[in-house]
Amino acid sequence: MSATPADASQGGSIDHVLTEDRLFPPSAEFTKNAVISTQDQYEQLYAAARDTPDDFWRDQANEHLHWFEPFSEVCQWEAPDAKWFVGGKTNACYNCVDAHVEAGRGDKTAIIWEGEPGDKRTLSYRELQTEVAKCAEAYQQLGVGLGDVVSIYMPMTPELAIAMLACARIGAIHSVIFAGFSAESIADRNNDASAKLMITSDGLNRRGKVLPLKQTVDEALDKSTTVEKCLVLRRTGGDDTPMTEGRDVWWHDVVDTQPGVLPATPLESETPLFILYTSGSTGKPKGILHTTAGYNLWARRTFEWVFDHRDDDIYWCTADCGWITGHSYIVYGPMTAGATCLMYEGAPNHPAEDRFWDLVEKYKVTILYTAPTAVRAFIKWGDEHVDKHDLSSLRLLGSVGEGINPEAWMWYHEKIGGGKCPIVDTWWQTETGGIMMSPLPGITPTKPGSCTKPLPGVIPKIVDEIGNEVDSEHGGKLCISQPWPGMLRGIWGDPKRFVDQYFSDVPGQYLTGDNARRDSDGYYWIMGRIDDVINVSGHRLSTIEVESALVSHPDVCEAAVVGRPDDLKGQAIAAFVTTTNREVNDEFLKELKQHVRKQIGALAQPDDIRFTSALPKTRSGKIMRRLLRDVAAGRELAGDTSTLEDLASIASLQEKD
Ligand code: PRX
Repeated sequence: MSATPADASQGGSIDHVLTEDRLFPPSAEFTKNAVISTQDQYEQLYAAARDTPDDFWRDQANEHLHWFEPFSEVCQWEAPDAKWFVGGKTNACYNCVDAHVEAGRGDKTAIIWEGEPGDKRTLSYRELQTEVAKCAEAYQQLGVGLGDVVSIYMPMTPELAIAMLACARIGAIHSVIFAGFSAESIADRNNDASAKLMITSDGLNRRGKVLPLKQTVDEALDKSTTVEKCLVLRRTGGDDTPMTEGRDVWWHDVVDTQPGVLPATPLESETPLFILYTSGSTGKPKGILHTTAGYNLWARRTFEWVFDHRDDDIYWCTADCGWITGHSYIVYGPMTAGATCLMYEGAPNHPAEDRFWDLVEKYKVTILYTAPTAVRAFIKWGDEHVDKHDLSSLRLLGSVGEGINPEAWMWYHEKIGGGKCPIVDTWWQTETGGIMMSPLPGITPTKPGSCTKPLPGVIPKIVDEIGNEVDSEHGGKLCISQPWPGMLRGIWGDPKRFVDQYFSDVPGQYLTGDNARRDSDGYYWIMGRIDDVINVSGHRLSTIEVESALVSHPDVCEAAVVGRPDDLKGQAIAAFVTTTNREVNDEFLKELKQHVRKQIGALAQPDDIRFTSALPKTRSGKIMRRLLRDVAAGRELAGDTSTLEDLASIASLQEKD
């Protein structure tokens, strides 16, 4: 595939972004109280992390993590293998929970939680410590210990965070699976990771309905060869939850009954902390591996720098713990920093489209971190839902998951932030563990659509096809040229793919998979993916993954999937399909969409499916995705609807050009 920046303009907002030149400096008042409040301070931190990384990270780690045993070496780096804080022993759960209790801050609220039906719960750090210890004790009783993998498929309840932290407490490895994935996807992940324990709930509340999570898990467990036990939280109630004798146990029977005294285990710095599956450029999702100390430090420091965290903040990240944003900025970052986090279970439009603003007002949220796709939905739903509420508690806004188009940025700034809150547009990835580029809210004048500058420890390079640094204003592939503590340590069970994917293009440098350019002020602009990954509502999907799901239907011969611009989702999924002799009609269309839902999950269901007699291919047999992208976006063949009989001939015409 071609990797020119022009080719990457799949998101549709690039033209706007390229001409954006508005500048929004932080207010003097914000700057006055900010954690990083002068340009000099940033530049010193940045230079120290770049020029003397060992000294810089030694100090950071000693100051910001608890060590049961000190480390002897800061970083061993032989690309692609990084080892941080070698010889030391720490524990991410201890840093998130026990450290605050030990320091006399046990009464501080750790989690303020609200369920979709309106039920509420708060947990202090001390209460969280007891709950996490109970859960860890239950794990031990269920035969789970150091190095065992625990799959978690749960709604956004405090128990989800507790289940993650309890793994960290004893050195088990969590693999959280977003509770929208299908049974097939769960089984694939369970088998790939050799999960021993599965945790779920009876059901999940979504827009007033109950989704039967346990039923989906049962289907997955039929195909999961390594899972021995299943721990089930009662969340939605009802007597009809199927429980398999000898395998399934209720949370209230085995967790709530524990004493809650188990201390955190001192763990080697590089002990695996979690696996998180994400889409790559092939059909098979990859298990990104993060380890304990480096990840924990990176999550904490990036949280504190970017969100300007203060002790009295009420911080709300609206992500789900099923994604990396939830891992790093609901659990590990804010909790290590001792923050008070709001956690919400349900949909933003239930019971009405003002649910988020109701929560912000009720809990006096000061920092809000959400995704552009949500912002675009709020715009569509109308200002009246926002106007009903007092949002004056907000002081800082964040954005993540995809580039935020300037229109959405302006609305977020004015309507939600009242024109006074800085917006931190944070660029990062599952692989990077935490934020890599972002404005620092006290000092960075922001430009709508730019993630601005790298954080201390992040050395970006923009390179061409063959790895030479290029004229950065034109743009090219974005690489990171020094190791940083939060970087991924591998792809679970696939060391070759790890090297091929991230470290072979430019030897010794981490290839992000994104294109970017740097403007004359040194600001970075992310320009979309190099590979066949699309970004649907801020979630990564491989086009090949969706294609594989489509061709697994008996009536599909071939499928090609591309992203097309979408006002709400950023990118929508467009599929081109050739079929057997089956008649093409609405029923077939519905069946195919349903089939993909079943194979992967609702988030992968194609928005458009078009039937064609042949897919356009190059002479060497490669599907011409660029052409299909144009067709899907309506840039070619305007007015064409459901069948594209002539795609093959268009392709041959294009080929001659
Ligand atoms: O293409 C970039 C886009 O999302 C990709 C990472 O996806 P994922 O691993 O699922 O993590 C999402 C949450 C961190 C990136 O390679 N992306 C993420 N944030 C931004 C972004 N693109 C532009 N601007 C952003 N702020």
